[in-house]
Order: sequence, then structure tokens, then C-alpha cells
Amino acid sequence: TYIVTDNCIGCKYTDCVEVCPVDCFYEGENFLAIHPDECIDCGVCEPECPADAIRPDTEPDMESWVELNRKYAEIWPVIITKKDQLPEAEENDGKTGKLETMFS
Ligand code: SF4
Ligand code: F3S
Repeated sequence: TYIVTDNCIGCKYTDCVEVCPVDCFYEGENFLAIHPDECIDCGVCEPECPADAIRPDTEPDMESWVELNRKYAEIWPVIITKKDQLPEAEENDGKTGKLETMFS
């Protein structure tokens, strides 16, 4: 599966949702989640993200991100259409330690 990781937080460009053939992106206030059980591993979303936030779970230390994506994909609404990025997206792009601020 692919998952959304911390660089999406506070950016939420949403380019990714338009290309997903199975519509498995779910939207929170400042982050998107991929449902890991619905993702068919096609990989087309990965290069679409301007913040480089989408990673395959084959990379090291991705287990906690898979679980976080699953948890929120199950409670957030599906998103299938691109919308404007968050106003502070450029400023937040590439910042570290964003997970701590995710729901503040
Ligand atoms: Fe959707 Fe493919 Fe990305 Fe999985 S890898 S979230 S199926 S676009
Ligand atoms: Fe997030 Fe990148 Fe999609 S910033 S909303 S994963 S295009």
C-alpha cells in the first residue's frame, strides 16, 4: 500500500485525490489519509504530491503511518475532487515535527 506521511500535514495540496482509481483518500482538517486496505498499490498518486508526502509502505519505519492512515480513513469522509491547498501550505512544506501539531 501507499500511505500519506507527515509532509501532507498543514499543506493538503489534494492533487493526489484526482488520480486515484479506487477513490481511497479520506479528508481531515489538515491531513489526508489513504485507506491501506483499499489502495491497490498502483503508485500513480506518489508523483502527484507537490510535498512528496505519499510513500510506499515498503520504506523503513512505515508501520505507524499505515496504522494512522487506516485509523483516520475509517472515520473521515472520502475526497475525490481537488480543492485549494491550505493557505499556509507553502510555509508548512518541508517543516519537521508536524505530526505533533496535526490536530491542534
Ligand atoms: Fe490510490 Fe493508487 Fe495511490 Fe493507492 S497508490 S492511493 S490506489 S492512487
Ligand atoms: Fe497531501 Fe500531497 Fe495529497 S500534500 S493532500 S498527500 S497531494
